Parts: sequence; structure tokens; C-alpha cells
Amino acid sequence: MSALFEEEVLSVRHWTDRLFSFTTTRSPSFRYENGQFTMIGLAVNGKPLLRAYSLVSPNYADELEFLSIKVADGPLTSKLQHLKVGDKILVGKKPTGTLLVDNLLPGRNLYMLGTGTGLAPFMSLAKDPAVYERFDKIVLVHGCRTAAELAYADEIENKLPNDELLGEEIRAKLLYYPTVTREDFRHRGRITHLFGTGQMASDLGLAPIDATQDRVMICGSPAFLSDITTLLKGMSLKEGNSNEPGSYVIEKAFVER
Ligand code: A2P
Repeated sequence: MSALFEEEVLSVRHWTDRLFSFTTTRSPSFRYENGQFTMIGLAVNGKPLLRAYSLVSPNYADELEFLSIKVADGPLTSKLQHLKVGDKILVGKKPTGTLLVDNLLPGRNLYMLGTGTGLAPFMSLAKDPAVYERFDKIVLVHGCRTAAELAYADEIENKLPNDELLGEEIRAKLLYYPTVTREDFRHRGRITHLFGTGQMASDLGLAPIDATQDRVMICGSPAFLSDITTLLKGMSLKEGNSNEPGSYVIEKAFVER
């Protein structure tokens, strides 16, 4: 049996000249947990060319959704960015990943910190009922260079609070904190700075980060992961995994360089 499903592209959205997203059909037997990633790609010269992509769509959705950068000379994204409705796409049957609520100890506030396409896994988690059951506040943080790169901002701010299933929980618990580094915006600066100085918690009216109560999920570029991990360790937060839940979990955003 093949390790890949063949799905069909249902819609494509170009956010900027560096960023796009698309939706596909979903094979009924494809199962995943919110926060996970899977391999996706295209058949090139008869062989699958695959990269890891986090699922943007929650695991109960009828369609799959993915967020991608466009790299002009990237082996996959140089081709993927030309996807059209009706095209075929390969989707790996074995999703995996560490950004799972079960890998975290129960706690007070959950911070989901993503840079660039590192937002993707948090979109599925922001629609997961288990997340709202376990935490008082869920802080969805997205750091980008420009406001145009704040993908899904409209959905987060205007659609999620009216979600049929989770609207009430979302209105009570979800706080969205977009921040931009290279132009003026209502929040400006790198996530590491805003989180580390306490400015983020203060802007949101939350108590300062407390390692014994607050939890963090992180997804972004290797430089961001390295800097934020140093910061969290300095605050005495411990990394969690499936054997031993902890106070933070981490995943690299799988971008092509
Ligand atoms: P900056 O504009 O200061 O580089 P990219 O599009 O390059 O992946 O960046 C996405 C966002 O992540 C940008 O706002 C960028 O800020 C920020 N960023 C890049 N490196 C780091 C880092 N080491 N720590 C925190 N934020 C970072």
C-alpha cells in the first residue's frame, strides 16, 4: 500500500509574493492530531518530492489546509507556488510532531508563539476543544516582517469568535497578539523581546509569565527557536515530550531555504 494519499487542490490563496496557502480534499482515512505535520509534495519526474508541512486545518475538518512560503529556487516551493484548483498533491499518511497538548503539563495560560509559517500548527490548535478545556487563556502570537504576512488575521479576529462549535470558548479565552518587525503596527518587535521583557503579558493584561503555571508552544525559524529556547530555559521552563510532559514544546517551521 502506498505511503501517500493523492488529494486534489480545492483553493489557493496568495497572501504576499513570499507566502501562500491552499486547501485540498481529505481522504476519509487520514487521521491526525491538531498541531501535527505531515509530508506533502508533488510527483517530479515520476518520483515524489516531499517536504514537511504543518496542518492548518483542525483534525475534524472535511478539507486539509497548508501554509507555505515561496522560494524561487526551492526544489518544492518553486513548483508548489504555481498550484491551481484541480491539481493533484501528495499527502503522507503518517502525520507526526511534538506540538501536542498532551506533551504539556496542565496550566494557566498557554502561549503559542509562531514566526512566519510557524503559525500553521497553531491554527489547528486554536480550533481544538481540548486546548480550551485545559487552559484559562490561549495566547496566539504571530511574528512577521510585515502586516501583509499576518496570514489568517481576519479569520482569527472575525471568524473564530463566531465559530459554531467553539465560539463561546474562543471569545472567553483566545487572545491574538500579532507583531511586526519591519513596519509600523500596533505591536512592533520580535517575539523574543516582547515575551522576554514581559511587555506581551502586560499588553494583554495577563500576569507575568510564571514557569510553574504557564505553558508555551513554539514554532518558527531555527534562529528564533534557538533564541526563545535560551530564554525559556533561563526562566526555568522545562521541555516536554510524549514520555514526560513539560512546560514547553518546540517544532521547527519546515521552510525551504
Ligand atoms: P526580523 O524582521 O527582525 O528579522 P522570517 O520571515 O525571516 O522567517 O521572519 C519572521 C519573523 O521572525 C520576523 O519578524 C523576524 O524579525 C523574526 N525573527 C527572525 N529571527 C528571529 C529570532 N532569532 N528571534 C526572534 N524573532 C526572529
